Amino acid sequence: MVPKPFQVRKVTWKKINGQWQELVRASYHKVYDGIGAMYSRVSDLESKIIAMEHYPEYGIHVWGAFGKRKLIGLIMGTLDHSVYVIWDLFVHPEFHRCGIGRALLKTAIRDSRCRTVQAEIREGNVPSQQLFLSLGFDAKYSATLYESELV
Ligand SMILES: CC(C)(COP(=O)(O)OP(=O)(O)OC[C@H]1O[C@@H](n2cnc3c(N)ncnc32)[C@H](O)[C@@H]1OP(=O)(O)O)[C@@H](O)C(=O)NCCC(=O)NCCS
Repeated sequence: MVPKPFQVRKVTWKKINGQWQELVRASYHKVYDGIGAMYSRVSDLESKIIAMEHYPEYGIHVWGAFGKRKLIGLIMGTLDHSVYVIWDLFVHPEFHRCGIGRALLKTAIRDSRCRTVQAEIREGNVPSQQLFLSLGFDAKYSATLYESELV
């Protein structure tokens, strides 16, 4: 596919309010969230959006990809002691496989000047696994969450 023009830049959460929700609604899927999100009781799209509304409280760093001024991709995470932990990465399905995910990841890594980058990727999320592998990431751990509802 011929890459469509897009631009990646650092943004504030406030500036993209209204747009990020639309992007998440278009890109979220059932093997998206990892164990970390589940500790925050995120289990579906709506609980994901509610959790994300609180992100500014955690000091996240956000980069957006824009095409014709519209938000079409997003990466965000926290930076702590040179470790950049990616919380979320979304590219609008209409623009998949145009190099936007790779560009977002590379820009966030470069701009954050981190020494280590970490991301949690679910077992069935093959596009994401392939993206991270293509940039030299190694799979370090895999885990299963055990849960019991005590009523
Ligand atoms: C994962 C995701 C961000 C990739 O974004 P993208 O812009 O389509 O990815 P890119 O075009 O930059 O692809 C870079 C590389 O990733 C790999 N890749 C991306 N999509 C792939 C797919 N569907 N199948 C296999 N490999 C894939 C390829 O190695 C690709 O390189 P290539 O096109 O030169 O072969 C996107 O699919 C997405 O938003 N998915 C839904 C949300 C999600 O799961 N996010 C990840 C959370 S950890």
